[in-house]
Amino acid sequence: MGKIQPARGTRDIIGEELKRMRYVEQRFLSISEKYGFEEIRTPVFEFTEVFSRPLGDSSDIVAKEMYSFEDRGGESLTLRPEFTAGIVRAFISGGMQQNLPCRLSSIGPAFRYERPQKGRYRQFHQINAEWLGLSVPHVDVELIAMAWRLLGDLNLQEKIALHVNSLGDVESRQAYRQALVAYYEQHRANLSADSLVRLKANPLRILDSKDEGDRRINQLAPKLIDYLNETSSSYFKAVQAGLEALNIPFDVNHNLVRGMDYYCHTAFEFITTELGAQGTVIGGGRYDGLVKTLGGPDVAGIGFAGGIERLAMLLPYDIPGPRPVIILPMGEVLTQALTLGEALRAEGFTTLIDAAGNLAKRLKRADNKNAHFAIIIGEEEIAREHAQVKNLSSGEQVSVAQSALASFLRDNT
Ligand code: HAM
Repeated sequence: MGKIQPARGTRDIIGEELKRMRYVEQRFLSISEKYGFEEIRTPVFEFTEVFSRPLGDSSDIVAKEMYSFEDRGGESLTLRPEFTAGIVRAFISGGMQQNLPCRLSSIGPAFRYERPQKGRYRQFHQINAEWLGLSVPHVDVELIAMAWRLLGDLNLQEKIALHVNSLGDVESRQAYRQALVAYYEQHRANLSADSLVRLKANPLRILDSKDEGDRRINQLAPKLIDYLNETSSSYFKAVQAGLEALNIPFDVNHNLVRGMDYYCHTAFEFITTELGAQGTVIGGGRYDGLVKTLGGPDVAGIGFAGGIERLAMLLPYDIPGPRPVIILPMGEVLTQALTLGEALRAEGFTTLIDAAGNLAKRLKRADNKNAHFAIIIGEEEIAREHAQVKNLSSGEQVSVAQSALASFLRDNT
């Protein structure tokens, strides 16, 4: 028998935390709908290639963090480490290019083999938005505005700063890559072993290195911003002007490089200082080559994903649940309690029936459930078609005709 506990980095989510997560999800769905997004649910696992090709073999996710396995038919499959590649795969296999632009929102679990700590799990949950069909700055601005609005709706704007950067177009990145390789070649002797591998596969990744020696070398490395061509730099300026026009505060952060290879032009992150090292709550960017990389047409896209656990942790208030009504049947009146329960639920009340133990115990349990009213029925009440209604906040108890119960409860809540 295996160990009776959740696997490392996974958790059972229940109670207040789940309420908060659900609240974040509901706010996201409602806001993204206002921006014209349609919800999509893609499979939790895909062919491994769907992720490895666009994210890049040298990315941390593909190199170290994917949950990949061979199924019984010998196919290499991977639990999604993120949504974007799977949604683009769905976009292609579903022929959605017939219907552009395509705005898709999604919610669900993602999986990365990372070292677990506060705000970082191996199974975590994302809200995700993808906007496919155009590569123009106002779309980037609109998408960032949607994320900003969500943070406003969750009362989090004050805790969070928006960082933006431009990763340029293909031409700019190629020029930059050459400059970087030339620079790192001069410092070969002092680069870490990992970075020597990155130098071949993807020198931009060295900028992200945690190694002390690499970091010293990085301080004087060429900056991408100096290699943006005219198109890329005017694109970035237009995005910044759009954010300013919408009064969305941001910082340009030239060191912002995202963890996947598919990005170009606009990259952004919403970061808080309140969650320690795991401060990025939302990250995203433009990915104009991704649909093609996965074998589809030349369709541009931009999107973002937010960590639901991280957003939920930051919420400044608890999410109140419904205050239930509790029916307490005394004696042989269980069937009548069931009937009354059905009637009250049909009227919209959250209704529990508690038939176990003495009255004092049941009233205590009702209090623990934050119930507003206890409805006590015994044989005498049933005979008179009445019920005793006890207001658990004031202690007051009155007899109410069963036919008038729903309106009594409504009027006194
Ligand atoms: P990402 O930055 O890798 O981007 O993840 C987005 C967010 O997911 C992070 O900012 C963080 O809040 C949350 N997150 C990531 N890993 C973990 C973890 N191990 N535990 C808890 N939360 C985590 C993407 O996933 C891109 N697909 C975003 C995107 C969409 N770009 C374009 N479209």
